[in-house]
Amino acid sequence: MDDDRSRPTRRAFLKAAGVALLSLAAGYPLVRALFREPQPIEPAATDGWALPSAPPWPPAGGRERRIRLVVTRDVVRLPGGPSFLAFRVNGRFPAPEIRATEGDRLIIDVVNRTDAPLTFHWHGVHTPPAMDGVPFVSQEPIPPGETFVYSFIAAPRGTRWYHAHVDEVRQIPLGLFGPFIIDPPAGEAEGRPEESGGRPWEAEAEAILMLHTLGPDPENNPVGALTEGSGPVGGMGGMMGGPGRMGGMVRMGGMGGGVPPNLLYLVNGLPAASFPPLRVPEGGRLRLRLINASATEPFWLEAPGAHFLVDHVDGNALPEPVPFGDLFLAPAERIDAWLVAGRSGTFAIRSKIPGQEALRISVEVAKADGESITPSDRGGGSHLPGTAESWSYWALAGGAGTALPAVDRVVPMVLSGGMMTPVWTINGEAYPRVTPTRIGAGERVRLELFNHSMVDHPMHLHGHTFWVTSIQGVPLRRPIPKDTVNVRPMERMTIDFVANNPGRWLFHCHQLVHMEQGMATLIDYRKQA
Ligand code: C2O
Ligand code: CU
Repeated sequence: MDDDRSRPTRRAFLKAAGVALLSLAAGYPLVRALFREPQPIEPAATDGWALPSAPPWPPAGGRERRIRLVVTRDVVRLPGGPSFLAFRVNGRFPAPEIRATEGDRLIIDVVNRTDAPLTFHWHGVHTPPAMDGVPFVSQEPIPPGETFVYSFIAAPRGTRWYHAHVDEVRQIPLGLFGPFIIDPPAGEAEGRPEESGGRPWEAEAEAILMLHTLGPDPENNPVGALTEGSGPVGGMGGMMGGPGRMGGMVRMGGMGGGVPPNLLYLVNGLPAASFPPLRVPEGGRLRLRLINASATEPFWLEAPGAHFLVDHVDGNALPEPVPFGDLFLAPAERIDAWLVAGRSGTFAIRSKIPGQEALRISVEVAKADGESITPSDRGGGSHLPGTAESWSYWALAGGAGTALPAVDRVVPMVLSGGMMTPVWTINGEAYPRVTPTRIGAGERVRLELFNHSMVDHPMHLHGHTFWVTSIQGVPLRRPIPKDTVNVRPMERMTIDFVANNPGRWLFHCHQLVHMEQGMATLIDYRKQA
């Protein structure tokens, strides 16, 4: 997996010192309540948008590549912070980047040299169901000492990621996740409008930023990090479905919420305080690929003195880039954005969520040249720092449309639970005791999500891309292509997808405590005869 290192990109996996602890602060749900809810103002045509009838999947003709991922247990000592028994993949914490070209046939040997059963899931990649890494659905967990060979075609292009799918709430924070970037075949656009317009925006520098959280010690550890000597992670007891070992520290699934105290905020596996500054080169084009790899926490990022030009969400190209003054990422969401800085100097990307002050990444801009990096000749006008909107799916979608696209089947998915019991359900059922939803191959399917609870649920569908087509009953002007969507308390949302990858697929909340406590279900369809 080191064979793509010649790409003209620079990545920041670095090291240094210092760990900041957090103080308990006002609750995150409170923060969310303060969000401005942009009201759909002028309904516009939905641009004749329709679900693709037969998406090209998977593309053929790539080369075959063999990748070996050796998973071990080892003590990780954070700069200035705690030591704990973590996971390493090929010696790295967190797991190394996988970089492939769309269409490549990847053959990935996962060698389990740990004491815990595990699997890997390729989040956002359209693998065949048997390669999807869901324990007891796709495969048996890989036992200690054994190897499992994953084989699938790398598609679709974009910022994907991979992570453990056994005992996720512990194994992911302890290092079993990494970026999985799928590039377009040489010569093909990534889908950015600038490129189709003959004015390529080649990334002069690219930073992949994986944000994640970790409890600082075993005694006060919302995500279950283990320290040396505390024994093996995992075992079947920790699998999804049982309240299991979350013990007394469970935040009641987030009820009353707030940011848990003393969480460590890590960027690419380093405490944020010791993460080296990002450098925006002269001319100011820094491309960010942000991945929220936290098991439980959302991030709401701003960069005073700069704004973000978002062109992909969950790795999928938007029809046109959208400027934002801040970015919100629920667990498992990804955003690709150009960091657009107005003047030279040093500033910070930091979290707006009270209690997350420790999450701060400094940025150094080599030269004041804000205008030149603003695509002002694209017709959209220039977006000066400070004038961009606050993050919302509404703004991402360009506001309200007039009609929902046609579908063949509508499936309600009611998300609830958490009221004084650590059980979360979809349509009243807690995983694994669920009735699979049956749909037909080739159908255009609409999931009608209703969050009948008081906390956010970032819902993820395996094996497919879906489009967010409405929020609170209002159709979106430009449906948003995603694989994980954050559904807020009492919110209704429709997500539409094409059943073009037959199999049995997990649909679940990516707040992994919720998932472990039942918020998952299955969607099932067979190949047409
Ligand atoms: Cu990223 Cu089932 O998960
Ligand atoms: Cu949830």
